[in-house]
Amino acid sequence: MITETIKKAGLAAVLAGTFLAGNTLFAQKELTVDMSETIAPIQPTMYGIFFEDINFAADGGLYAEMIKNRSFEFTIPMMGWSQPNSDRHSYNNESGYALPVKYFEGEGNLNFLRVQVKNAEGYELHNEGFRGMGIKEGDTYRFTFDAKQMAGAVSAVKAELLDEEGNTIAEASIPVSGSEWSNYKAEIVPNKTVMKGSLKLTFEGTGELGLDMISLFPTDTWNGRENGLRKDLVQLLYDLDPGFLRFPGGCIVEGRTLARRYQWKKTVGPVDERPSLVNRWNTEFDHRLTPDYYQSFGLGFFEYFQLSEDLGAEPLPILSCGIVCQFNTGELVPMDELGPYVQDALDLIEFANGSTDTPWGKVRADMGHPEPFNMKYIGVGNEQWGPEYIERYKVFNKAISEKYPEIIIVSGSGPFPDGDYFEYGMKELKEMGAEIIDEHYYRSPEWFRENATRYDSYDRNGPKIFAGEYAAQSVAIASPDNKNNWETALSEAAFMTGLERNAEVVQLTSYAPLMAHAEGWQWTPDMIWFNNLESYGTPNYYVQKLYSTNKGTDLISVTQNGEDLVGQDELYASATLDSEAKEVVLKVVNTSSEAQEIQLNFKGKSIKNKGKVIVLKEENLTQENSFDAQEAISPSTEEIKVKGDSASYEVAPYSLNIIRIPVK
Ligand code: AHR
Repeated sequence: MITETIKKAGLAAVLAGTFLAGNTLFAQKELTVDMSETIAPIQPTMYGIFFEDINFAADGGLYAEMIKNRSFEFTIPMMGWSQPNSDRHSYNNESGYALPVKYFEGEGNLNFLRVQVKNAEGYELHNEGFRGMGIKEGDTYRFTFDAKQMAGAVSAVKAELLDEEGNTIAEASIPVSGSEWSNYKAEIVPNKTVMKGSLKLTFEGTGELGLDMISLFPTDTWNGRENGLRKDLVQLLYDLDPGFLRFPGGCIVEGRTLARRYQWKKTVGPVDERPSLVNRWNTEFDHRLTPDYYQSFGLGFFEYFQLSEDLGAEPLPILSCGIVCQFNTGELVPMDELGPYVQDALDLIEFANGSTDTPWGKVRADMGHPEPFNMKYIGVGNEQWGPEYIERYKVFNKAISEKYPEIIIVSGSGPFPDGDYFEYGMKELKEMGAEIIDEHYYRSPEWFRENATRYDSYDRNGPKIFAGEYAAQSVAIASPDNKNNWETALSEAAFMTGLERNAEVVQLTSYAPLMAHAEGWQWTPDMIWFNNLESYGTPNYYVQKLYSTNKGTDLISVTQNGEDLVGQDELYASATLDSEAKEVVLKVVNTSSEAQEIQLNFKGKSIKNKGKVIVLKEENLTQENSFDAQEAISPSTEEIKVKGDSASYEVAPYSLNIIRIPVK
């Protein structure tokens, strides 16, 4: 049947005396949406979030602390700090000088800063923030620090926030006294908004002052928490309505050496006692060196659980299985020394779920959360491969399932969606009855479009799948030239019909990485971009959001001539029922450059005479969102009319369409 579109296009072509070279004209499609039986429940966890501290996603990003190296714990203890009026090779009699001092060797808060003020008029100590500090006019900022007088009489610390030109835009003077460590606080309200502000400290009196944990937070964090999270970034996450929050990564779990792996126990308890650690992404890529990238762990496991709770998402922590990132050193813990690693996993379950009488349950309670976090999942290893992984996984699997049979263990199939590592891992994990296997794919947009049928052949009685990290790469995996453009997002949308159509098997999915600082990133593409003041969702973000907020509750079939729509004429489709909203929800993706006419025939239930279509479309496949055009690609909503059991709809070129129609 020739559609109006074809007729118009054909007529236009004839009138113009040309033909539509390179373009395809499509016949109208009849899609049957069968509501008579449901195929599988859509798991509430189906669309979730993968969080990793990469690209300044935690320190310098989600974690709202504005001071870089607040506790002088970086390998170079004064990194991020400067003393513009001091000279390392002079006595600085006209100003002064500060040096890091070690409290003790070991772990935790090792260093403090001894400031020698020789001339209060001359001495200044500055912190540059994370690529500057985003400061907002009229907002309140909480400045805190620990101090002790060591010699002489330094009697006050003056804190000033500076704009890019060095002008003062907020200030407070805080008296200090006593030779014991005390904590000091002031609230300051700037009179100007700046993207790259900084902190300047000056002093009253002369002498020596010890300083530590110099911290600056906006008071307006998510849920107003001290040690809180950046509100705009959490809001973007909240708006995704995520089914789970996977944390803390990613390769960061594994580390580049065992000594530098992520150890959750070091990220809980009092914030100032959490030892800092170099971030494994700091020098990973020569093209994006970030030597000042550390983990303060102010955003630690307690805060991740709390965030999961805030978002209504299942917490899904991933732990080291005793193998370092195999793209790096691949360092292994000997099998007979795996005990502490396994114990970390068992203790984490106690920390999350144990009663307040248990040692780790008590730690949680002491941190302000006596109620359990009701953790249901735990991941063992991130992106490991080979026999080394399988033999270690078996040890964890046995120990966890013996002690906590109710906990669902997530295993990994390695970094690639096919090939030797993948085949081997899947075979072994299946044989041992793994519950959920994590798959990762960072592939081309074409790969995503061509793999909408990937899960059609997966065993319905085998392990469930966690598509734990995926993103279409416009150039090549982790290329610094990759873009979050519409082609990548649309290709992911097409692929995601295949995830949803296979909801019997695929039960958790997440795009990765999640966030990137516009100046502090190492890896692109990323779902959310931010600078010190603003943040926006990419087209890929909106695809994720539309799927997640329209997931429905039960999978149903949508077919054309009895077949799934998996790319025929560049159309893809999946359908669900939403038993809560009492609506049928259809997703149609058109990856062609032509509009396509579809007729929808609904059977099995009666539907109301109108519904809505949420459309994400863009004719230019290279279009991106940006700080200047944050919603260049963003959803719009239109109405769809229904006649009896049918509706006609023209699917725009290059579009994702969510069609929601109430069921009678
Ligand atoms: O998402 C970025 C990285 O990609 C993750 O840390 C790792 O798991 C994968 O290789």
